[in-house]
Amino acid sequence: MTDWQKSGWRACERIQMPDYTDEAALNAVEAQLAKYPPLVFAGEARRLKEQLGAASRGEAFLLQGGDCAESFEQFSADAIRDTFKVMLQMAMVLTYGAKVPVVKVGRMAGQFAKPRSAPTETVDGVELPSYRGDIINELDFTAEARIPDPKKMLQAYTQAAATLNLLRAFSTGGYADVHKVHQWTLGFTEDDNAAKYRNMANRISDTLDFLKAAGISSERSAALHQVSFYTSHESLLLEYEEALTRVDSLTGDWLAGSGHMIWIGDRTRQPDGAHVEFASGVLNPIGLKCGPTMETDDLKRLLAKLNPENEAGRLTLIARFGAGNVSEHLPRLIKTVEEEGANVLWVCDPMHGNTIKAASGYKTRPFESVLREVREFFGVHKAEGTVPGGVHFEMTGQDVTECTGGVRAVTDENLSDRYHTACDPRLNASQSLELAFLVAEELTAAREEKQAAKAS
Ligand code: PEP
Ligand code: CO
Repeated sequence: MTDWQKSGWRACERIQMPDYTDEAALNAVEAQLAKYPPLVFAGEARRLKEQLGAASRGEAFLLQGGDCAESFEQFSADAIRDTFKVMLQMAMVLTYGAKVPVVKVGRMAGQFAKPRSAPTETVDGVELPSYRGDIINELDFTAEARIPDPKKMLQAYTQAAATLNLLRAFSTGGYADVHKVHQWTLGFTEDDNAAKYRNMANRISDTLDFLKAAGISSERSAALHQVSFYTSHESLLLEYEEALTRVDSLTGDWLAGSGHMIWIGDRTRQPDGAHVEFASGVLNPIGLKCGPTMETDDLKRLLAKLNPENEAGRLTLIARFGAGNVSEHLPRLIKTVEEEGANVLWVCDPMHGNTIKAASGYKTRPFESVLREVREFFGVHKAEGTVPGGVHFEMTGQDVTECTGGVRAVTDENLSDRYHTACDPRLNASQSLELAFLVAEELTAAREEKQAAKAS
């Protein structure tokens, strides 16, 4: 045991967090949250850690996706169901196409707080504090809406609990049964990607029918009837995280009870900063975003601080350099990790390095750049002989027009049609499927290459 304390981060430099003005209200909310049940349990976080360890060795693959920012206003059972459906479809594409077990982790049930590139925002000459996510303040562009309100943490907790409850029901209650592989499609995605998915689903149904006819009953195989689905979010609002941190009664270790996996953002990964200090002491699997400004010396310190026992599955490095920048940055970070002998899971986030402003003023991401960064990520790992272990992306099951491109060719002019994100532009269902098909291809090629190398 170390002398880590859940409030230890308070002695470190804090950035990207609100300065609440009403201290009494803040204290009352923290006291309330501290009495609420944790959302996840230590055994689940440990199981996820084992599965991420397998992914780090190339024996599984991490699929981590969901909203950029969950919203109070867009909270609905249908939205949760549709995002879950797209994740199931993507996972099936990878399991069937690349023959690899998929670890499914939602950016869900807690992804409410957002780091911002600027503390204020100016519209028509009016300057107001930036929107920081529904757990902190409101998106409306008024002075009142932008005041941080601690009571929003209680609403976020309630929404996270309800979301997780539905996800658990979907995962184990029959909805995710592989026999329903056709029913996870969404009505509006009639295009090449949907057709490709349907073909695959037909082959899966065929196989299941064959097994049944051959007398091989799938009735009792839990693996076919349910899935494991985990939650994750950026551990940014540390007052909320601390209040939900609990001691695991079996081991005496600390658990961040707010979600199975938490990650540290690219803006808050200072080795001596508050966010790293908090994450260092909890038993959960930890993600660490690595952008172009990640220095190799900092990475060394972070490896030592976040995973001193060098446990497999504990630390996931989420590379987000932007298309065209991967070969400049990923090899030097891989080299550092190899030199340190550190166990990490390498994951590609092809979203956050590819955000641009369209001529129309909308923030968007060209889908071409997203796919290109994924290809570059696989290319570098192939050259280095290391394991590309997962993808991290922003998507929704809603039929949005937020990222340009894809087979349905969303253009700059289309962005305003259905642009609903509270923060960054997300892939829609069709683009998400296309991404999954590309990843399946890359993984298959990587495996064949390995087998050929072994044989020769
Ligand atoms: C995010 O994942 O929404 C995010 C803000 O990412 P990053 O820290 O990599 O910019
Ligand atoms: Co984002």
